[in-house]
Amino acid sequence: MSTRPKVLITRAVFQDVVDRLAQQFDVESNQADRTFSEQELTEKLRGVDGVFTTSSERMTAAVIAANPSLKAICNMAVGYNNIDLDAATRAGICVTNTPDVLNETTADFAWALLMATARRITEGEHWLRAGHWKKWRFDAFLGADVYGSTLGVIGMGRIGQAIARRSTGFGMRVIYHNRSRLAEDLEQRANQARHVGKEELLRQADHVVLALPYTPQSHHTIGATELGWMKPSATLVNIARGGIIDDAALIEALRAKRIAAAGLDVFENEPAFDPAFLSLSNVVLTPHIGSASEATRRAMADCAAANLTAALTGAPPPNLLNPSVLAKG
Ligand code: 8YV
Repeated sequence: MSTRPKVLITRAVFQDVVDRLAQQFDVESNQADRTFSEQELTEKLRGVDGVFTTSSERMTAAVIAANPSLKAICNMAVGYNNIDLDAATRAGICVTNTPDVLNETTADFAWALLMATARRITEGEHWLRAGHWKKWRFDAFLGADVYGSTLGVIGMGRIGQAIARRSTGFGMRVIYHNRSRLAEDLEQRANQARHVGKEELLRQADHVVLALPYTPQSHHTIGATELGWMKPSATLVNIARGGIIDDAALIEALRAKRIAAAGLDVFENEPAFDPAFLSLSNVVLTPHIGSASEATRRAMADCAAANLTAALTGAPPPNLLNPSVLAKG
């Protein structure tokens, strides 16, 4: 019997990352990319020391309690709302994420969605592909200007700031809403962003981008009331997490044209998102690909693997979310 620590990689990942981990650990991988039920996941974790997860796997208190051998949960994502951090901390398990490596790629993507939403790019493409383009019209696919408009960023962490920095070339005014105000030098770098309340932001912004983490407190940050505060000409982009928007309220607002359009990379209950979105032309829909560049996904996988290796070899993991577990020894 091997005495090497046991590792479970819950989803398919770059083969060289699997191979690298297998040099040090007894690795069970899932290169077939099967979706594990909570029960299967619990069973697969029996006797496992470290698990490499993605945001699709829910590491609940029950899954954690059923697996006392676990010492590390290493998420290949910056968001970690799929992990019960308190339960893991109580059990003395190191939890890590992959911050920073995806900031710029995700900010690029927020802009791709913002531009596509404001200028109705996917709507125009669908219409063209369907063979409707017979002649030019003065009023075809009129959208909203981006240049010279007001950008509102809700959630001004590292990704929110990277989004705001990009707005300088578009001559935009930036307002942001965040739990706390940024240091002045960070505001300056973020195109002189101004800290405002949520209602003021939603009333003033022409383009609203959501870049905040999902927590019980950020659940339905945007619902019917907040959509009602937005300008009828405004657009809303979510590159953060499903559940930050009340999707049913957004569908209603888009249907009634209470706001102009939305660009969504994340959804409540994804990938089983509300099919009503498909019947709306004023929404751009993408399948949670904000960080999906080759280089960034590699960097995320490398980062998660480095965290896992550190945690299982007695070194402090570089991206430890619950340092109190180390103090417990
Ligand atoms: C990931 C993400 O692609 O990092 C995050 O929090 O949402 C995405 O970058 C996805 O969650 C993979 O785990």
